[in-house]
Amino acid sequence: MKLYKKEGNILQVLSFPTENAEKGDYLLVEDADAGKALIAQVIDVQFAAVPGVLEELLRTLPDGGQPIQGEDIDPMEIAPHITYIQDASLLICKIRATLENGALSPSSSWLPSRSQSTIKKLSIPNLLKLAKVDGNLPIILGGTKDSSLLTIDASAIDGTLNIITGKKGCGKSHLSKLLMASLIGYKATVVVFDLNGEYSSIGLTQDGKRNIYYDKIHALTPAQNFKVALDQLHLNVVMGILVHALHLPGTSAREFRRIWKQLKDRGDLTLSSLGEAIRNLNCNQHVRDALASRYHSLVNSGFFTDVAAEAALLEECLLKAKEQGGAIVINLRNISTIDRQIVVEYVLGKLVDSLQSWKLKAVFLFAEEAHLYLRETYWDDIVTRMRHFGIFTTFITNQPDTIRESIYRQADNIFLFNFTNEHDLDVVSRASRVDAETIRSIARDLPPHHCLTLGKVVHDFPIVTRVRALDLKTMGETRLFFKDIN
Ligand SMILES: Nc1ncnc2c1ncn2[C@@H]1O[C@H](COP(=O)(O)OP(=O)(O)OP(=O)(O)O)[C@@H](O)[C@H]1O
Ligand SMILES: [Mg+2]
Repeated sequence: MKLYKKEGNILQVLSFPTENAEKGDYLLVEDADAGKALIAQVIDVQFAAVPGVLEELLRTLPDGGQPIQGEDIDPMEIAPHITYIQDASLLICKIRATLENGALSPSSSWLPSRSQSTIKKLSIPNLLKLAKVDGNLPIILGGTKDSSLLTIDASAIDGTLNIITGKKGCGKSHLSKLLMASLIGYKATVVVFDLNGEYSSIGLTQDGKRNIYYDKIHALTPAQNFKVALDQLHLNVVMGILVHALHLPGTSAREFRRIWKQLKDRGDLTLSSLGEAIRNLNCNQHVRDALASRYHSLVNSGFFTDVAAEAALLEECLLKAKEQGGAIVINLRNISTIDRQIVVEYVLGKLVDSLQSWKLKAVFLFAEEAHLYLRETYWDDIVTRMRHFGIFTTFITNQPDTIRESIYRQADNIFLFNFTNEHDLDVVSRASRVDAETIRSIARDLPPHHCLTLGKVVHDFPIVTRVRALDLKTMGETRLFFKDIN
């Protein structure tokens, strides 16, 4: 390989066919005289535009050589060299760091010597060693192209905001299950908003046997094993549900607050007495109607109960998850949008409460397709307020434009699967941890189950991995009509 050009932080390197460098590979450009080296990543491979090569190519076309009769004479035996040059490629590389005295710095301001520099491939294990991507809490993400493992450290997803995105069916939920399982293995508390009802099976192997996670997965299905008693609810959580999920107007909200306080003082916070109080309310008809309709929504969700024994599960699970690590899987499958919002509003309110009072240290929240249940104001809350309380969110989506731009800007880690659609790539390119060219060029060519890992976990050296398989029962598959018909 030979250095050809440098423009800004882009290097162009000439590579010969035997050197087979591919997109995503890392190169080390060493300049022995300067005592420094550049670490660059190949983001595109093109044909080298060598003068005369086009002419030669045309001559080798079947009819290009016709007018010339007779045998080809090649006394100098240059034909093999010409073919070699025809196949030479130009590697477009992005400079990621400078290596000097064993230490890395992000600078790319110096120019290595064109005649003296040697260029060789940098293997992923060596790169990871140089970048010091290691730690005491390893999570094996999968294998890289040079058949080494990509291992990240769990502490690099502690306190962070993460995004897992890619086309449908490329393995996003699979990766989030892998991360979750590893986190609970390290005794973390995890909460999942499970839109397709696929996470509760993490405790089972493919053939349905219990695995080591079985006791740590707590599946909660709203209105079935997951209910709340009114007298356990904080007023601000109820108000959150009424105002944000059920759009209760301001005047009625004030009236509701008053009723709630009265009932609470009397020690009579039950569904029936709340209904009674609203019916007997002496006020404007509109206000009463507004309150009555919200009350019916609450009752119809089946999520609220007056039986204290039915309503203890979330608390118990949080306690268990805190002590030995565990995942609370909130199954949002088969429930209506309004009920979903009620449940999410409640769970987030409860988490903030428990974190504020130090009943919990921190929580890793995994949210699948969050735009379907997360209210507008929560997006900003999640990057600012909630993060400070200790809710560290991972968003998982196949529609990247449903995630706010501010989330991309603030994201610490992005796990990017294949996208071919320009618009989707545009959206993801807004992430501030990496440049748009890398995302566009590499994500377009990723095979299924391969992900480009970006951000803090890989110390800003984008790395492509084939996510490892898990022996877990999968439930997220799309139901098919023709599947078992032969
Ligand atoms: N790395 C992997 N190794 C083996 N199987 C995998 C891997 N990744 C995903 N799969 C399998 O591929 C299928 C689709 O994966 P998954 O459900 O994770 O996709 P998805 O991106 O979440 O899809 P959707 O957009 O529909 O939610 C699943 O059956 C899953 O078990
Ligand atoms: Mg999925």
